[in-house]
Amino acid sequence: MNAQPRRVEHQQTDKGSVPVYTTAIVEQPWSSYSREDHATWATLFERQREVLVGRACREFVDNQRRFGITPDAIPKFEDLNRVLRPTTGWELIGVEGLLPELTFFEHLANRRFPVTWWIRRPDQIDYISEPDLFHDLFGHVPLLLEPMFADYMQAYGAGGVKAHSVGAEALANLTRLYWYTVEFGLIKQNDGLRIYGSGIVSSKGESIYSLESPAPNRIGFDLMRIMRTRYRIDTYQKTYFVIDSFEQLMRATEPDFTPYYAELAALESIPAGNVLDRDRVYQRGTGEGWSQDGDV
Ligand code: PHE
Ligand code: CO
Repeated sequence: MNAQPRRVEHQQTDKGSVPVYTTAIVEQPWSSYSREDHATWATLFERQREVLVGRACREFVDNQRRFGITPDAIPKFEDLNRVLRPTTGWELIGVEGLLPELTFFEHLANRRFPVTWWIRRPDQIDYISEPDLFHDLFGHVPLLLEPMFADYMQAYGAGGVKAHSVGAEALANLTRLYWYTVEFGLIKQNDGLRIYGSGIVSSKGESIYSLESPAPNRIGFDLMRIMRTRYRIDTYQKTYFVIDSFEQLMRATEPDFTPYYAELAALESIPAGNVLDRDRVYQRGTGEGWSQDGDV
């Protein structure tokens, strides 16, 4: 059953405090967006379209174009679904904000991607501490059209349901993987490093920082290493992990993770900014501007 949409904004993201989660699926109240909402969309869309030239990966740019979204108005989920459903079988559903973990996993496992229906206020253009429509739609939706990535997201959801029954530590391991791939992943393409992570592509500052700043580490993808690595929720990442291809990501995550979780349980977590001897290092960060605490 669809519920009436109600904008639910939390003061903090999922770690930190305990936000009130809602599980309802809502109809996108498209006709209730204000002129200011559409203008916010236009501002963010145009700005990111420029910033992402030569920065976003090929697949992001190409697939975004296939949706035919424009700065003119906030897209209708239904229009995007008409492109998505027949291609990779994914479907966008409207939600009020962050979902409880298990609910989120179950949606993904069934190829439903939850999109927050409301958009940030003008004073939140540069930064908002939780996902809004711009992050969810602009950031995540393009790669749902990419067959390999679409499969990865579904498998992640199914894996999440499983990890949830294994326990809190397994969940933390899997969440790190999501964070360092789906949200903050980089990919090596013919012309250099490119962005595919949604948390990066929806942020002007981090789009530039993740690729061009000397501060962060850029390290080759390593599944077990990533699942041990803590991360930042309130600053740019200290470390980005670089995949060679979406196929690499798929292959590495195909096995049953149950024995991996057992192995990881015996190992210490790794601070967000550390570089290990056996890391495949693209760039060793200078660490400039890092705050010393706050890794989650
Ligand atoms: N293969 C993993 C498991 O069995 C699930 C998974 C798939 C996790 C894709 C992440 C990404 O738990
Ligand atoms: Co996101």
